Amino acid sequence: MKSAFIYLFLVTCCWALPFKQTGFLDFMMEEEGGSGLVPVTKKPPIFSPIPGPDGPICPFRCQCHLRVVQCSDLGLKNIPENLPGETTLLDLQNNKIAEIRENDFKTLKGLHALILVNNLITTIHAKAFMPLGKLQRLYLSKNLLKEMPTNMPKSLQELRIHENLIAKIKKASFQGMAQVIVMELGSNPLKSSGIESGAFSDLKRVSYIRIADTNITEVPKGLPTSLSELHLDGNKITKVQADRLKGLKNLAKLGLSYNEISVVENGTLSMVPHLRELHLDYNVLTSVPPGLPEHKYIQVIYLHSNKIAAVGPEDFCPPSYNTKKAMYSGISLFSNPVPYWEVPPVTFRCVFDRSAIQLGNYRKK
Ligand SMILES: *[C@@H]1O[C@H](CO)[C@@H](O)[C@H](O)[C@H]1NC(C)=O
Ligand SMILES: *[C@@H]1O[C@H](CO)[C@@H](O)[C@H](O)[C@H]1NC(C)=O
Repeated sequence: MKSAFIYLFLVTCCWALPFKQTGFLDFMMEEEGGSGLVPVTKKPPIFSPIPGPDGPICPFRCQCHLRVVQCSDLGLKNIPENLPGETTLLDLQNNKIAEIRENDFKTLKGLHALILVNNLITTIHAKAFMPLGKLQRLYLSKNLLKEMPTNMPKSLQELRIHENLIAKIKKASFQGMAQVIVMELGSNPLKSSGIESGAFSDLKRVSYIRIADTNITEVPKGLPTSLSELHLDGNKITKVQADRLKGLKNLAKLGLSYNEISVVENGTLSMVPHLRELHLDYNVLTSVPPGLPEHKYIQVIYLHSNKIAAVGPEDFCPPSYNTKKAMYSGISLFSNPVPYWEVPPVTFRCVFDRSAIQLGNYRKK
């Protein structure tokens, strides 16, 4: 049991960024495989598929294997009853569940992962998640939720709730959720005014936040200092305010592609001293953002498809050599009004691999 626990922990921490949903089946296989120390075929089934007098029962039409209860794609309208108490993973994706009732998860005290993606959920009872004291992963994407669920387990490490109808994130929404590492909130009808100040401040361990394809117009306030990736692509952000990134000393990737950004304030880059990748492509910048020559670690800067009309020799590189510790591995400037022949070659004097630079041509559409 101990080795299985360690294995699960490893799976969690090594589940490679960028945390794409696609690895889900692999993850189930990994869970089923247990520690890998015991051959799977020799493991006894943990609950019998034959209903005993009062033993655990595999719900009708679901498949139960080891501690995984698989009830996806069955047209279910409700959470099955009498779910086996030992279940660690419950998969209910692609059903027609509209409501989660108070006692639906009452027996599932050991559940680690709950997958409810692609249902019709509009209502979750305020106490429904309370029995799930061990839940680490909660996947609620592609539903019809108008509000963030309440009383989510404090043990949660990963919350995916993109493609819902959530317009507000309150400070209480994530209260005490100090174990969360991954948070995916994209494709919800969020506006900046709908995100309460300090909404993320309890997420002391969070390393990945994605709020893409919403209507927010600003970088949210009070982001936790543990953050290493922040993905805010496809929003309506018009300006990057330096103070919004204050204290984000662990931030390595910042995605701001497909916004309406015309200004990156002076001092923004010095707030994020360990940034390696900055994506600002598909915005309306008229100049290269300030602070790149002084930044020690930036390696990738995407600026293509903006309105940059001039690039100067001090825009990317420090005046003297050896002050930049990391080298650029990607600079993109194509699809800007600046003609590439007007960019002086000395601009890229600190870039040693010429193939890292994509200048290209600007084509008027
Ligand atoms: C953003 O606002 C527009 C206009 O009000 C609306 O049509 C669109 O659906 C909103 N986007 C999201 C993701 O809610
Ligand atoms: C930003 O900093 C540069 C160089 O220090 C300075 O020339 C420029 O005026 C500043 N811009 C603003 C808006 O403060």
